[in-house]
Amino acid sequence: MSLLKELKKLGFKLGLCDDPRRQQFNKIPDGYFYRNVFSPWHGEGYGQFAQYLKIAQSASVVSSDRCYILYALALQASNIDGHWYECGVYKGGTASMLASLFTRKKGREGKNNNNALHLFDTFEGMPETHPEKDLHQQGDFSDTSLTSVEKQVDTFISDTSIREFHKGIIPQTFKGLENHQIAFAHIDVDIYQAIIDCCDFIYPRLQPGGILVFDDYGFGSCPGAREAVDKFFTDKREIPLVLPTGQAIVYKMCG
Ligand SMILES: C[S@@+](CC[C@H](N)C(=O)[O-])C[C@H]1O[C@@H](n2cnc3c(N)ncnc32)[C@H](O)[C@@H]1O
Repeated sequence: MSLLKELKKLGFKLGLCDDPRRQQFNKIPDGYFYRNVFSPWHGEGYGQFAQYLKIAQSASVVSSDRCYILYALALQASNIDGHWYECGVYKGGTASMLASLFTRKKGREGKNNNNALHLFDTFEGMPETHPEKDLHQQGDFSDTSLTSVEKQVDTFISDTSIREFHKGIIPQTFKGLENHQIAFAHIDVDIYQAIIDCCDFIYPRLQPGGILVFDDYGFGSCPGAREAVDKFFTDKREIPLVLPTGQAIVYKMCG
């Protein structure tokens, strides 16, 4: 008994290699994904998500469980008419996955509209951050460039007209897009003011049933992200749903 305790203290967990309980998972589809509970974000090499995870992981700091949430919600948003936004692109990992999913949506729709995936970033690193609200510093994430991200994203799509890059500081880069109707937005900018600015612009243009995904809501490294989301939604009808991944999601209510 004390040996087990000692092992536990050292971080080891003792279990049967051939736990007979695992056999129950052989009877249900996708048994591979059961790690106590169904966990399809372990997408490496299995299932539909695998190819999209591979695309995201080619250039992303976003973990596979968060990529899975993004993937599933983007699929859902594929049934809503409107533009897709990603604010906070960095090296283009999640943007590449979204570009690929957006291409699939366009292919399925088979109709002509001007909806596109819009990608917003300085592509030169964080702008000025809030000294009390944010832990990130100006210049974080500066090891990227617009040229390299264009190349990265375009590797995964055949029609480059489905994506539009908006280089510069949010909210200036929203200028001229006031007529947009938005179906889906991935907000991954990490800092207080940028999140407030994204919400101010995107939320009123979000279609009923449209989805917002806040990547950084629950991360201790991004305290300003949570403060901004909480502040913005205080007087809205929607309640951000906080996930164990650290993300928060909002579905726009009808009417
Ligand atoms: C965590 S990174 C994005 C990660 C990316 N989605 C991925 O797949 O790895 C955050 C990005 O937000 C950008 N950013 C933060 N505030 C911004 C602002 N006001 N305007 C434009 N870009 C901003 C930074 O330049 C940085 O590239």
